Amino acid sequence: MSTSIDLGRPVSGDVIDLILDDHRRFEALLRDLRDSTSDRDAVRRALAALHVAHAEAEEKHIYPTLKRKDAVSEREAEHGEEEHAEGHEAMLAVLELKGTDTQAFDDAVEELAQALNHHLTEEELTILNPAREEVSERVRADLGAAFATERNARLDADCGNIDNVRRIVAAAEREGLLDDDEE
Ligand SMILES: [Fe+2]
Ligand SMILES: [Fe+2]
Repeated sequence: MSTSIDLGRPVSGDVIDLILDDHRRFEALLRDLRDSTSDRDAVRRALAALHVAHAEAEEKHIYPTLKRKDAVSEREAEHGEEEHAEGHEAMLAVLELKGTDTQAFDDAVEELAQALNHHLTEEELTILNPAREEVSERVRADLGAAFATERNARLDADCGNIDNVRRIVAAAEREGLLDDDEE
């Protein structure tokens, strides 16, 4: 394990609840990352792991199913993936810094918080609301199990390590997900 911070290992549930639980974990970790008295190195590693595991599980299971069910549009799903890529890039900037008690660290944390808070808000409004309204409980439970399995496997595989985050950002760059064409 690369982090001693408990990120939870849910195995089942309504996918909306599971995603929201992670979003609240993101917010708690961001709060700790801002706090100069916390173990910011441990917090950034935990946040990186959760961000990769959560985003990749959404892209593999949630976005494709919601598109198939016409709950979200192709464009909305693609925009979500672009925001994940922006989050990975901002996360990498935080991981790359040596010290955690510098102005550069504070600046990188501020940028990361902006990217993540923006995405959490937009995803809850444009992706989770349609899922609530248009997808059956049965499908949401199936998606919950698939999401949790994927997320936990990636956490167990240490997906937040800096080399893996570098690889993800490089791949996103090649795929054009980081082109600065819109907010
Ligand atoms: Fe999410
Ligand atoms: Fe997301």
